Amino acid sequence: MFKNSVKKQVLAALKSVKLPNGAKFGGASLDEYPGLSEVIITKSAIAFSIEVPKGMESAFEPVQQAAQKIVQEISSDKKIMVSLTSESAPKPNVPNAPQAQNQKQPVKGIKKIIAVASGKGGVGKSTLSVNLALALSKSGKKVGLLDADIYGPSIPKLLNFEGKPAVRNDGIFTPFDAHGLKVMSIGAMVEKDQAVIWRGPMASSALRQLLRESDWGELDILIIDLPPGTGDIQISLVQQVELAGAIIISTPQDLALIDAKRALDMFNKVDVPILGIVENMSYFIAPDTGKRYDIFGHGGAKQTAKELNIPFLGEVPLHMQIREASDIGEPIIISKPDSNEAKPFLEIVNALQKHIKD
Ligand SMILES: Nc1ncnc2c1ncn2[C@@H]1O[C@H](COP(=O)(O)OP(=O)(O)OP(=O)(O)O)[C@@H](O)[C@H]1O
Ligand SMILES: [Mg+2]
Repeated sequence: MFKNSVKKQVLAALKSVKLPNGAKFGGASLDEYPGLSEVIITKSAIAFSIEVPKGMESAFEPVQQAAQKIVQEISSDKKIMVSLTSESAPKPNVPNAPQAQNQKQPVKGIKKIIAVASGKGGVGKSTLSVNLALALSKSGKKVGLLDADIYGPSIPKLLNFEGKPAVRNDGIFTPFDAHGLKVMSIGAMVEKDQAVIWRGPMASSALRQLLRESDWGELDILIIDLPPGTGDIQISLVQQVELAGAIIISTPQDLALIDAKRALDMFNKVDVPILGIVENMSYFIAPDTGKRYDIFGHGGAKQTAKELNIPFLGEVPLHMQIREASDIGEPIIISKPDSNEAKPFLEIVNALQKHIKD
């Protein structure tokens, strides 16, 4: 109900945005323009894209700007995301990415950006991202964490915060503060049931705004928790910013490693350094007997790292306390920093720091 009325207000406002002169676009104003996408309303954002005919990109720029301005006026507490897309725009294509690399720009105040990626879902990217960020922060670095998983943002749960981030008057997000980390989650813009419509330019635009329109302050390192695989978010990330590198995480099974190699391949193609591989759920320690079981096999990631001549950063056992700590929003590095379960993450950070120059 509420969303529908906001949508009506947005469309009414877009009536006052005129289309460029001298061409027929199926109507005189933006609300009637066939290239206008669905208007997506979320807790903290309003997003839509305008698809323009080939060669008309610059003619439509004032339309984009006017739409941005007018919608901002009616909804000052939300982030407004208007993206311009063109049929002629080359589809993001990793092998041809050099063209887009020219557009890469540093993010103000952030020294290094490190992505945590995997081929398969559910292998522990978010768990690693959170514990890594916290361990780096404990070692004295200023650290931020960006949850870029459009299909299942999980950082808010792992760090026990909820709600939408504040948007300042100038439209800049204020990140959450969790245990000294500055944290933003794409979940602030994308709601669960809407993930599938955030494709291509919309996903890219959401990522750009989270990166560039958040008040990160000064950070030594920003960790980005990626969705699994090699989709729109990964591609637009490598096109938008220079990464200090990517960490690939995998479980030990062959199948997971095949997918991990695919992710490695993608970063290699776009010249993003691989900082190393982490093996998660590497082995299981029975909580009662302390006996070790290699339930998924063991050592596959280390072997793969050796074959591909990339650093192996360490292995994390499958341990109930790691999951339980995550579930209650108190990551192991915070709740039990001196435990055996926290140790692997600290070792990974030590190994990582050897591969990232200050
Ligand atoms: N070493 C571990 N020991 C025990 N449980 C773990 C471990 N690593 C991850 N888990 C649990 O496995 C589940 C998946 O982990 P996580 O969410 O970090 O994976 P992910 O790769 O980010 O998943 P997705 O692809 O869905 O984003 C979570 O319930 C998490 O608590
Ligand atoms: Mg995740």
